Amino acid sequence: MAFTWFPGHMQKALRRIEADARLVDLVLLVLDARAPATSRNRTLEQALLRQGKRLAFVLNKADMADPAVTQAWVRDLRRDRHDAVTVSAKTGEGRGVLVQALHARRKEVLEAARRRGIQDVVLRCMVVGVPNAGKSTLINKLAGSARAKSGKHPGVTRGPQWVRLSDGIELLDTAGVMLPGRLDAASLLSLAVTGTIREDVLPLQELAPDLVELIQARGLASHAFGSHPPPPRGAPSHEWLQALCRARGFLLPGGELDDRRAVLFLLKALRDGRWGPLSLERPEVDGPAMSPQR
Ligand code: G4P
Repeated sequence: MAFTWFPGHMQKALRRIEADARLVDLVLLVLDARAPATSRNRTLEQALLRQGKRLAFVLNKADMADPAVTQAWVRDLRRDRHDAVTVSAKTGEGRGVLVQALHARRKEVLEAARRRGIQDVVLRCMVVGVPNAGKSTLINKLAGSARAKSGKHPGVTRGPQWVRLSDGIELLDTAGVMLPGRLDAASLLSLAVTGTIREDVLPLQELAPDLVELIQARGLASHAFGSHPPPPRGAPSHEWLQALCRARGFLLPGGELDDRRAVLFLLKALRDGRWGPLSLERPEVDGPAMSPQR
């Protein structure tokens, strides 16, 4: 069932990443900081490592996640000897640290090259991540006006486009779209809230009980209900959703309660971070497994 959430060209996209990766020294794996376990794809990581690529994790959308949980993820990744930084591509927060990390990597590559008698090298990198992780936003934030300039040359858009980020560092202008690492029903909530799965293919009915439970457990019910009192904690999800429909006036043309609209309303609010930072997953060592954090 899981693969019906993603179009068939995803497999082709994975092969494309492996091909593009041959052109780079470093792959920036963009994770959604709210759901790093789900937005990681270990199969692809292994394939890239087999190619001898260095990987660096970029926990993006840090502005929408709980900072303490995000730091726990960074520690977890670094414990496994991975490079990891946090950014908010939208605001640009953390950009400087990421650029510093790129310079540090370039220094290593340069030193290795000089030992082989090569005087100068360019560090080439690419951005890869699941749908909606913020890859394009990150590329725009890193490339800034350099990217805008390269886009203005008509007729030279064939083949990989490189953007010069700073001295000796170039970035592939297009991102690689990969499948999430976890596609099971337990990850459905993370995939839905992060917007990794498109709304029109989401199994909303299946999702509703977990979504309502999450909102209740995180104390967000009052946000959902606005000026109306929410049902008591522990109310069955279908009753809770019907109460929300009445409170918000989510009605079908015949006056019937529109549960579907209520679920979409909740998802959008969470996805946009409207009710504050929300981490959906925490690392194993810091909490119970990598299942959705309730
Ligand atoms: P993708 O290439 O990986 O598919 O993702 P993309 O950059 O298109 O970003 C997906 C959505 O996430 C966009 O919102 C983008 O603005 C938002 N986004 C990306 N990085 C961050 C971040 O660090 N923090 C926050 N809060 N949002 C981020 P959108 O609603 O689809 O479009 P728009 O709001 O830009 O109009």
